[in-house]
Amino acid sequence: MPAMDESAPDFTHLKRHVEQLLKIQCSNYKEDYIKRRFLSRMRSTNSATYADYLRYLKAHPEETEPLRNALTINVTEFFRDKDVWDEVKNVILPALFQHKKRISIWCAGSSTGEEPYTLAILLYETLINHKDWSGIITATDIDEVVLAKAKAGIFEEKAIQKLSAAQVQRHFTRRPDGLYEVRPHLKALLRFRPHDLMSGVPPVRYIDLLTCRNVTIYFTEKQKDDLARMFHSALVSDGYYVMGKTEYLGRQVEDLFIAKNTAQKVFMKREKPLPPRSP
Ligand SMILES: C[S@@+](CC[C@H](N)C(=O)[O-])C[C@H]1O[C@@H](n2cnc3c(N)ncnc32)[C@H](O)[C@@H]1O
Repeated sequence: MPAMDESAPDFTHLKRHVEQLLKIQCSNYKEDYIKRRFLSRMRSTNSATYADYLRYLKAHPEETEPLRNALTINVTEFFRDKDVWDEVKNVILPALFQHKKRISIWCAGSSTGEEPYTLAILLYETLINHKDWSGIITATDIDEVVLAKAKAGIFEEKAIQKLSAAQVQRHFTRRPDGLYEVRPHLKALLRFRPHDLMSGVPPVRYIDLLTCRNVTIYFTEKQKDDLARMFHSALVSDGYYVMGKTEYLGRQVEDLFIAKNTAQKVFMKREKPLPPRSP
């Protein structure tokens, strides 16, 4: 990385410009993380310093999207970590429909759509046998470019490789250009909305199942704790929260949830706070 002392003002200028350009609050992320992401774009654009990269960014509007992608990292896939989805299908959805006929799901940090469409496939396959059951999935992301892609629901063949042949046939249409488009019955279960998880306010409330996976790895401990509190407030009593495999609940907030499946990072909202721990 460029030497701290000399480059600090340039880094600040670059950060301010990027915040205005992308409407992203860089200060919400760990500084090291932002620096590493800038550095990766600086390498790709042959910029030696933060000041060089700022000049490059201003002169090349086509650099905006690669930079946005570098900062938000949108890697995702259908049925990512298969065991979690078995748990959703075999345990969580049946448990929720035991008590109600309509459920609400929030997929936070939904990227290009593979995760919310995975949820939609499982929800659809649950609803199909029960005509009086229904559900809606709200999929949100800070990055409107990936949201637009998700909404379009068009995927390359390699993206849907983990799906069974029956799932592909049932839920996708093969287009003349060889791409696969999600069929309307799945799209009808979803709505996509821009939302910043650091805004402190959930986009929807009374959530029965919330998935937020592989999003918070670059958040600070405080931001993660605030997020867990926000999720707790957005969930109904006994609502489920599914985190990413490598993510964890901090000490300050772990009592807000009951671990239901530790390996799959499945938690349930704890309605009443635990009594304070003895010293
Ligand atoms: C690595 S992808 C994870 C996608 C999916 N959840 C999965 O596990 O496959 C992380 C997503 O989080 C989004 N993201 C990052 N910071 C965010 C924020 N503050 N608010 C909402 N989404 C955010 C990124 O735009 C990106 O699409």
